[in-house]
This record gives sequence, structure tokens and C-alpha cells, in this order.
Amino acid sequence: MGRFETAADFYRYREPYPPEFFETVAAKLGLTRERRMLDVGCGPGNLAIGFASMIGSVTAVDIEPDMLRLARAAAVEAGAHIAFVEAKVEDLSLPADSIDFVTIGRALHWLSPPETLAVLERIVAPGGWIAVCRPSATEAPVNAWNEKFKAIRRAWSSDPDETRYRPDVDKWFGPSRFRKVDEISVVHRQKVTIEDLVRRGLSFSITSPSVLGERKPEFEAAIEEALTPFAKDGAIEEELAAKATVFQ
Ligand SMILES: C[S@@+](CC[C@H](N)C(=O)[O-])C[C@H]1O[C@@H](n2cnc3c(N)ncnc32)[C@H](O)[C@@H]1O
Repeated sequence: MGRFETAADFYRYREPYPPEFFETVAAKLGLTRERRMLDVGCGPGNLAIGFASMIGSVTAVDIEPDMLRLARAAAVEAGAHIAFVEAKVEDLSLPADSIDFVTIGRALHWLSPPETLAVLERIVAPGGWIAVCRPSATEAPVNAWNEKFKAIRRAWSSDPDETRYRPDVDKWFGPSRFRKVDEISVVHRQKVTIEDLVRRGLSFSITSPSVLGERKPEFEAAIEEALTPFAKDGAIEEELAAKATVFQ
């Protein structure tokens, strides 16, 4: 069973990248219809679909068939033309210099650096960019509930230290020809229900339904109990910064 197989259907409850994020990154990098994009670890296709209308062609790769099923359906719904590839990025065989813009969203920690860098060094054309993307909670007081949410997820996790999830991005790209050229951050707020956050909890591979097994109802109840005091009219507000660390 794939790591994300039972988590995939809950992935839409993860922190989103807002439309202004795609507009800002595209404007800062000067993306045009002449450029060719590759989305690595595309999951349900959120980055590929978000950039599709601003760029010439999009290829998206993922190892998890369940994620690709969701991504294909979302792309059809959005009217986005994306070539999906089921593969490990480390094994990807695209022609040399065939990509101008790579996105890696919330996936860097799953990839093997030497093999992935060898692929990227071959396929990224001179002057091309790699954007390592993630939306994350800001320090705003409105996010106070998030510490409780994280504590519960840690308590139930199959990997409580979550060390894998904080790769040093500069170190990761260190041995390659790619150097950091920009840090882009777009802050936005949204309202979510407690039910949405319970589902978000199930979207992580380390607290997925298959990891939790029979303990799933207890996990759900623990999140509901901890977050209910923070809800107003049934909703919780969160402030997020959608970030892109750009290498060239
Ligand atoms: C947390 S999801 C990220 C989805 C999306 N990029 C985002 O930013 O929301 C990570 C994805 O990376 C995929 N993945 C993990 N290792 C991979 C690999 N070696 N090659 C390709 N995809 C991989 C997983 O299957 C999963 O769909």
C-alpha cells in the first residue's frame, strides 16, 4: 500500500495555495506561455493546476496512483491540460533541457537528493527555476489553535519527531548547480470548520486512516475536543503564508 493511499482523499483539506500565490510567483519569475513546467510530487495537482493557465505546458509526476486519480479529475474540472506521469521522480526520463520551471510542493522530504538532483540538472534548461513550495501557518495570534492541533497529531503519529519534514533546503541543493535566488511569501486568511481540520489530520501519511486503524475515531474525537473552544459560529480562522523558495 502506498504511503498516501488512504490519505489521498483527505488531501483537499490541507492548507491551500491561494490564487494570489500563483499570480505573484508567475509575475516575479516572468513566466510566459513559452515556458515548460514540471510539478514534482504533484499529489492532487494543486500546483500544476494553479500555474497551468500561465505557462505553455505542464507535466506532473507522482508515485501514488490514488493521488494521480484525484489530480486527473481536478485537472479535467479546471480545464487544465496536464501530462501526468506515474513514476518516481528519481527515475524520470525527460529529454535534456526540456523544462524551464519546476515546482516541488511539500514533497522535498520524500525525495532522494543525489538521484533527484541528477535528474533536475539534466532536464532543467539553462536559466530555469526550481520553486520549493509550501503553505504554512504564520505566527499570528489567530493561529493559537494550531499548537493544539499539532500536539494531537504528534501524539498519534507513526513518526512523532517528524524530523523528515524539515529538510534544510539550501543544504539539499548545495551539491548541485542550483542556487537560491528568491524567497516569495503570500499571506492570506481563511475559515475552516473543525470537521475540515479532522479531515486535514487524516491527510498526513503519518496519521492516515491506515496508520491509525482502529484508533481513528479516538484521533478524530481528540481533535474535535481540543479545537472546539477556538471555534466561533462553527468556524476557525487561520492565517497562512504560501511560500516559494526559488533556485536557479
Ligand atoms: C504531501 S504531497 C504534496 C502534494 C502537492 N505537491 C502540494 O504541494 O500540496 C507529497 C506527494 O509527493 C509524492 N511523492 C513522494 N515521493 C515521491 C517520489 N520519489 N517521486 C514522485 N512523487 C513522490 C507523494 O506520493 C505525494 O503525492
